[in-house]
Amino acid sequence: MDYAQRNPLPLPSSGTHARVRATIDSVFDWEYALRRKELLHLYEKGKALNWNATELAWNTDVDVDRMLRERASIGGGALMNQLMKPPRPLDEKQILDLNLNMNAFMLSQFLHGEQGALLATAKIVQTVPWEEAKYYAASQVMDEARHVEVYHRYLTEKLGISYEVHPSLQQLLDQILQDPRWDLTFLGMQIMVEGLALAAFGMMRLMMAGEPLIQDITTRIMGDESRHVAFGVLALEKAYREELSASELREREDFVIEATHLMRDRLLMHQVFERLGWDVDTWVEWAKGTPFMIGFRQMTFSKIVPNLKRLGLLTPRVRAEYEKLDLLRFENLKDSVDQPEPEPPQELVQMLMQVLGQLDRSPAPNA
Ligand SMILES: [Fe+2]
Ligand SMILES: [Fe+2]
Repeated sequence: MDYAQRNPLPLPSSGTHARVRATIDSVFDWEYALRRKELLHLYEKGKALNWNATELAWNTDVDVDRMLRERASIGGGALMNQLMKPPRPLDEKQILDLNLNMNAFMLSQFLHGEQGALLATAKIVQTVPWEEAKYYAASQVMDEARHVEVYHRYLTEKLGISYEVHPSLQQLLDQILQDPRWDLTFLGMQIMVEGLALAAFGMMRLMMAGEPLIQDITTRIMGDESRHVAFGVLALEKAYREELSASELREREDFVIEATHLMRDRLLMHQVFERLGWDVDTWVEWAKGTPFMIGFRQMTFSKIVPNLKRLGLLTPRVRAEYEKLDLLRFENLKDSVDQPEPEPPQELVQMLMQVLGQLDRSPAPNA
């Protein structure tokens, strides 16, 4: 696919390429027993549901600025100030800039996360000991290449604003790629990173409801991601429930807790405030403490928590940490095997619909 990079991605301070050294075992499975029927089923589904980025309507006139301006023109500014409780009142232009850059930041981190998924899943092809898991991982590698392609094109050709990788995301991806244990790659990528992405995609779809191209992109990618997350749960379930020693379990708990903090830090979006020329400390404090942003961050864990529970990883240690972050309220939602379709939780839909619905209903300021 050929496309114009109107606005190339900004580079991180580390430069054009980053190398992560890992010593892994590449494992052959000479038995080809293919015992895990559910993985074979997922593999068939993955192949049948393949799609091509060229099918998307790339000629769509993407003007998010206009979309947000229309929202502002119906009195969104006052409501956004009321709902988001910023450290100082923002005028319409500042609210527009903040929304536009937050969306661009989220989409950019999706792109970088997709590249991480491409590398991590290629590593799973090599390290996982069962042939049927190699089959599925190989089909996921193809999905991830397509996701990188689509987000990159959208950001550079259509949106025109983008961000380099957030240091916390980079750190988490490095950790996932460095770890020689195949199950930690699944836990980091399929359960944590992709679990978060699945919930965040749901939010993106609601937040950019007026932009049809990103709607189509997000819906297609969510369909793929829901299978990737189910792959992680199916691959780890038996091993984690039956085969982990106490010390092995503890290492996995540590990993989950650390990954949770890194993912939360990334959602504080300091790069956005830097780019806008706003006082970073003040705004990061706002992002940490304001109910709207706290709710937003918590929602991104709505898929991760029930999946950790299914894996037996919602242990007392993890629970204690999640209790502090008020994440346990998601523990009784359906996990990604019981509910494979990528539906965002009702609580999330209601929260966003309340915000967006109020904006749409509010009268024009001079009416
Ligand atoms: Fe992906
Ligand atoms: Fe994925």
